[in-house]
Amino acid sequence: MLNFELYNPTNLVFGKGQMEKLGSLVPAGAKILLAYGGGSIFKNGIHEQVINNLKGYEIVEFAGIEANPHFETLMKAVAIVKEQKIDFILAVGGGSVIDGVKFISGAVNYKGDPIEILQKRILIKENAIPFGTVLTLPATGSEMNSGAVVTIEATKEKLAFGGSALFPKFSICDPTVIQSLPKRQLQNGVVDAYTHVMEQYLTYPHEGHLQDRIAEGILQTLIEVGPKVVEDPANYELASNFMWSCTMALNGLIQKGVPSDWATHMIGHELTAMYGIDHARTLAVIAPSLYTVMFETKKGKLAQYGKRIFNLEGTDDEIAKEAINKTVEFFHTMGMDTKLSDYKKEYSNTADFIVSRFDERGWKGLGEKQNITLDKVKAIVEMSY
Ligand code: NZQ
Ligand code: ZN
Repeated sequence: MLNFELYNPTNLVFGKGQMEKLGSLVPAGAKILLAYGGGSIFKNGIHEQVINNLKGYEIVEFAGIEANPHFETLMKAVAIVKEQKIDFILAVGGGSVIDGVKFISGAVNYKGDPIEILQKRILIKENAIPFGTVLTLPATGSEMNSGAVVTIEATKEKLAFGGSALFPKFSICDPTVIQSLPKRQLQNGVVDAYTHVMEQYLTYPHEGHLQDRIAEGILQTLIEVGPKVVEDPANYELASNFMWSCTMALNGLIQKGVPSDWATHMIGHELTAMYGIDHARTLAVIAPSLYTVMFETKKGKLAQYGKRIFNLEGTDDEIAKEAINKTVEFFHTMGMDTKLSDYKKEYSNTADFIVSRFDERGWKGLGEKQNITLDKVKAIVEMSY
């Protein structure tokens, strides 16, 4: 097993009615920036619940953080935090709002042009504005990790950043909030979380036996509850298992002491930046091709996955191949289209564009063995057409 440090200071407050604790979780006397998205929190009553539980606090609202949040929008909030001397931020929303708040939190005291946080991938280790979250969409794990993804609208670049100062102080995760989610977002949540596990699991056989078993437990739970929760989000047993699986998929735990990949995400982010395709759907497009092109590197782990998750039998090669088909089948069950042509009419220059972007950024070898070279990236994207 590889050496590791496990640091996760987020106070995760999980379950029905936990919103009542909001007032005691926010520091006493704080002046709060309440940040949210396009308005779903007004329709489902979450905005009202937040306000009712923050009586006595001074609150400044910042609305309109879009899905795949824009640097340009977030910089408006950075200005407000400075002008209004805000000392705590509350993110109420899904991954986009939470990620947006992570950027705001890190950018306010950043010495230099905050765009560098994205373009130079600056690690934010100190001087961040403290923030908490009320999660409204299980998917990204952003509620319990220190990473985020922000899009620079002007250049259409979707870039990841993070740092140890960007863990939420607390996150309120009430599974009943998923009842107002459209089916499409529930499907996205399941597939995003599933792929997070795969990025940290589907590498090569290693000595992290416990990490593998936890990862497999999350995959099995998502396969079990995923299709059902989309049809019955009011079922608390399904909703709570779905929400907890999403958090566990990307709170750092299963990545400790083992190799990880993340190339599916890196390529997928480009498809969102270019075409606006939902994050999870880009993963469903790229992952099967990536597993196929990188078959020789991944076949040991694909075979383990096929045996333990889908109970497949045969030679390791046969099982590994069939495991990719089973994954595609699961994505289809979750309402995903798995080819780029299902989303876009014109896509012929996609692979070359992505390769040139990766080349400019010096991303010449992605994946657990840094062997997803630019020619492999091209083959993966072309296979996804
Ligand atoms: O903006 P509002 O009106 O709130 O509507 C949102 C948005 O349109 C809506 N929504 C959220 N909660 C709802 C709801 N509608 C009804 N009822 C509710 N309870 O859902 C839409 C999508 O929200 P968004 O936050 O964009 O979705 P998600 O949580 O899937 O986040 C996606 C973003 O997270 C990034 C992705 O790249 C993408 O930008 N990721 C962040 C990660 C991280 N921080 O660790 C890892 C992930 O791999 C991912 O890259
Ligand atoms: Zn993701």
